[in-house]
Amino acid sequence: MMPLRKTPLLPPPLWTLLGCGALGGVFASLLEQSGQRVQVLLRDAQRSRLHPDFDFIALDSSHHLLGITRCFTDQVASVRRLLVMTKAHQVITALTPLVGKLSPAVPIVLLHNGMGVAEQVARLFPDNPLLVGVTNHGAMRCGHFAYRHTGKGETWVGPFNDAAKAYQNLAEDLARALGDAGWDEDIRQRQWQKLAINCMVNPLTALHKVKNGELATPRFADALDQLSVELCDVMQAEGLHASAEELKRRTITVCELTADNYSSMLQDMEAGRLTEIESITGFLLARADAHDIAVPVNRSLYHAIKEKQA
Ligand code: NAP
Ligand code: PAF
Repeated sequence: MMPLRKTPLLPPPLWTLLGCGALGGVFASLLEQSGQRVQVLLRDAQRSRLHPDFDFIALDSSHHLLGITRCFTDQVASVRRLLVMTKAHQVITALTPLVGKLSPAVPIVLLHNGMGVAEQVARLFPDNPLLVGVTNHGAMRCGHFAYRHTGKGETWVGPFNDAAKAYQNLAEDLARALGDAGWDEDIRQRQWQKLAINCMVNPLTALHKVKNGELATPRFADALDQLSVELCDVMQAEGLHASAEELKRRTITVCELTADNYSSMLQDMEAGRLTEIESITGFLLARADAHDIAVPVNRSLYHAIKEKQA
């Protein structure tokens, strides 16, 4: 009888998370809890600071202390798959120190709100498989390396370039940690749907200083009508499937589901942080201009946010 050959047990894949804020901290914790290996790549300036265990508060309010490894740019050779979870306008600055150091075999996954950043990342890392995604999990930072998971949602990733098409397994690994996560070859459609919701909810809530739920009241019905028609025109010109009624309906559903929340743009404005307006409405305006489509209501919201931000 032939002896059975032992299959070597491969270690679970190592995820490296760049951007360990609210969402990055929660994703790192969920990946760690699912038995996958995780390290977070911090700014070099954070090297000399104290790095306590992660204090992770799960959806059921249970506390978990997690010993998640920290690494810095001089350890880039250890990176096997890179999940970038900074704000949209921080992605390029965060990735630039890795240029020429990150192996071209490493898949890069971008999971920020807004669009238009992947094109710049592709120029910095032309040979790496590049994936983009959307998520509607909710996360909060509540202290030094302390994170609270505030809402479970869906996560979708898909290929931005051809090299990324072979990386469906990353979506499977994310699903083991996050629950609802999937692969979508046509991820652009989902990115635009999320962009449309962000174009409506974020500037309106930030300018009027209201909770998301307020947008579902008659007071904002006209604004949502006009914004959704403009967004629909641009999406159709981009070759995407869109209907203004559907965009408005989805937006109102999100506002009802998150009625008590303050949008990320309102929170950023109140805290005096740069908002993601450039990657949200700014991206929409750039695409509208490329198609010669007038988007006056989105444009006025963009300028109003820029003015307040300045
Ligand atoms: P956040 O709390 O501000 O986290 C961003 C993190 O990136 C921070 O820890 C920041 O470090 C880090 N970072 C920035 N520049 C860096 C650099 N050069 N090198 C290393 N790290 C750097 O933001 P967030 O709420 O997690 O959001 C991240 C993205 O997810 C955004 O696009 C957001 O719209 C999207 N999103 C968030 C949620 C949510 O519930 N939070 C839900 C869905 C989508 P410092 O703190 O030191 O600056
Ligand atoms: O940016 C945000 O706050 C969220 O993406 C959304 C969907 C607008 C809900 O608050």
